[in-house]
Amino acid sequence: MKPFTIRDIEINPPLILSPMAGVTDYTFRRLIKRRGGVGLVVSEFISVEGLTRHNPKSKRQMRFDEEERPFAVQIFGGQPERMRMGAEMAEEVGADILDVNCGCPAPKVVRHGGGSGLLRDVPRLETILKEIKKSITIPLTLKMRIGYSDSTINAVDVAKMAVDCGVEHIQVHGRTKEQGYKGLADWDIIRAVKDAVSVPVSGNGDVTSIEYGLKKWDESGVDGVLIGRGAMQNPWIFRQFEDVINGRKPYKPDLEEKKAVLLEFFEMLIEEMPELPALGKMKQLAGQFTKGLVGGAQFRQTLYHSHSAEEILDNITIYFETLRSRNTFGDGVTEADRDIEIPSCDSFAEQSASGSG
Ligand SMILES: Cc1cc2nc3c(=O)[nH]c(=O)nc-3n(C[C@H](O)[C@H](O)[C@H](O)COP(=O)(O)O)c2cc1C
Repeated sequence: MKPFTIRDIEINPPLILSPMAGVTDYTFRRLIKRRGGVGLVVSEFISVEGLTRHNPKSKRQMRFDEEERPFAVQIFGGQPERMRMGAEMAEEVGADILDVNCGCPAPKVVRHGGGSGLLRDVPRLETILKEIKKSITIPLTLKMRIGYSDSTINAVDVAKMAVDCGVEHIQVHGRTKEQGYKGLADWDIIRAVKDAVSVPVSGNGDVTSIEYGLKKWDESGVDGVLIGRGAMQNPWIFRQFEDVINGRKPYKPDLEEKKAVLLEFFEMLIEEMPELPALGKMKQLAGQFTKGLVGGAQFRQTLYHSHSAEEILDNITIYFETLRSRNTFGDGVTEADRDIEIPSCDSFAEQSASGSG
């Protein structure tokens, strides 16, 4: 696995933090980037309806820091004119890459012709891509699902059309819109896309371990791999992946570092937002992060019932002290830990699509 380029932008290592609405915001992206091993970060999907109507939330979602470069802004919508305007705004704020969302399955997004809705209206997608291409100079990329439904899988045709429109990187999540997050991603179709187009192709779906990521990368021949939910469970997954690619033993954070990363996240959140939403975000990450740790399920319960920053910090300290006193690294999955639900983008899409708060 070697670095690849999107025009002249080097993606090194070829590992991408997959965009996740409500998760991959300014704070989370920097937290992950600082752990190392990430070649590209992408914003949450941003509504062009919100952007072009000057919704403050949508504008805020384009904010990024120099340390994040290369940085891609992902936009979604179904109206070519608004998509063009949104793309221009992303270029204006200094994004390195403009990515079009062609995968979100949320009903509200699809109903308005955006997200994976574009997979069943390919002429509209073509118009959108051509409109955008005419008005930006930064590279245009696409993130898509493999099709709308099992009977209408069209990833290869969509990818070819996109490349003809000037798209310079195709990212494929190997599920259909109707599949949602069920089953496993189909990496054979990702491979078919890779074989069909001349631009770099990155694959995506279910990479939560280095072994699985390497296997899928090897089988599909993709240029890059996107990791979404796996990064919430393990912020070091990119670094570990990079280590293995380069023939090193994968980095293993100790307990102290695991605790420190939660605290770092919390500090960054508190700087960014009022205490209440910061608590919510903290619970979200801590919930995923402690999946698979000894006593993680119980810790999450305690955390969910914490009502202040102080209480959360105390509970984190107590939890990690307990692990230390048991002389464990914290690894070890319990039955309760296996039951954790990972959120999908739907709930966030409801807010973003309406362009409201
Ligand atoms: C909470 C959540 C929010 C998501 N939001 C987006 C999004 O805004 N844009 C996008 O292209 N994909 C979004 N996705 C899809 C992910 O980027 C990724 O394609 C999918 O989760 C499969 O990869 P994974 O198995 O590595 O998580 C989201 C997924 C989740 C779980």
